[in-house]
Amino acid sequence: MNCRSPRIVVTRSIPSDVLIDLDRVGQVWQPPFDRSLTVHELKAAVPGAAAILCTLNDRVGPEVLDAAGDQLVVVANIAVGYDNLDMKALAARHVTATNTPGVLVDATADLTWALLLAVTRRLAEGDRLIRTGAPWAWDLAFMLGTGLQGRQLGIIGFGAIGRAVAHRARAFGMDVVVHAPRPLQTPAGIRQVSANELLAESHVVSLHCPLTKSTHHLMGEEALRRMRSDAFLINTSRGPVVDEVALLAALRTGVIAGAALDVYEHEPHVTAGLCDLENVVLLPHLGSATVDTRSRMARMAADNVLAVLNGKEANNRIDFRSCE
Ligand code: GLV
Repeated sequence: MNCRSPRIVVTRSIPSDVLIDLDRVGQVWQPPFDRSLTVHELKAAVPGAAAILCTLNDRVGPEVLDAAGDQLVVVANIAVGYDNLDMKALAARHVTATNTPGVLVDATADLTWALLLAVTRRLAEGDRLIRTGAPWAWDLAFMLGTGLQGRQLGIIGFGAIGRAVAHRARAFGMDVVVHAPRPLQTPAGIRQVSANELLAESHVVSLHCPLTKSTHHLMGEEALRRMRSDAFLINTSRGPVVDEVALLAALRTGVIAGAALDVYEHEPHVTAGLCDLENVVLLPHLGSATVDTRSRMARMAADNVLAVLNGKEANNRIDFRSCE
């Protein structure tokens, strides 16, 4: 590697102050267009790169790493989830991988609540109704939703975001139970329960687990059938945690009352049929989408790159063993 001027591939646009800092230490390459790179374009961009700053849309696996070459020392994901990175392939090549934990916790927890309220109180449906210009009038039975006070929120995955979602639940008077694969220290009043108990008893089930082999299609036909028929499913984690075909069937047949999704199994594609249902709220992966949060994420990823290029330990190095 030419240490004086390492090649830094930045796959999407990032705030200019962050870019300037990267520019100071290396030759930054960015695509000449404003969209995600195809795998082919990513492979063509990375040869000679010492660092890659990428987003969750960039799949970094053996092919991309081989195309990059031996001088690659760091792949910095501008996301907390890193299912797009092949951690085994990175570890085998001694490439440091980093993510952006912490900074997006509040934004994502807030958005989870926005979805939760939207689906239980039929906000998107009401907005659609107004926009049609159709006549409507207040009436005792008009567009009734589901109240939250005294009802149970079941949180699957109790990392920082799950905890922040649970914290907000107190303000809405909800009881909270959680499920996670390992025994947890839970805040007072929050019980850790089995997945079956959580699914069978919760009025709202919210997913906050990472996408791994064991969480892929965690919410499939069987799990959905275990839920209450008046329950809602919220997903702000990763799309493939939910089997979208099974979800569509469950929503169509009244197995559950509704769902709110920020992420999709085949993102950005949305399974045909979901858009036709009134009891579904759909957002385009906005969990961390606030100006402050996205700036902090880009800054954090760039700082990780700069640390590694300076021969230091990155603050947010992903522990390969955590992915096994
Ligand atoms: C967003 O989905 C993230 O993982 O940061």
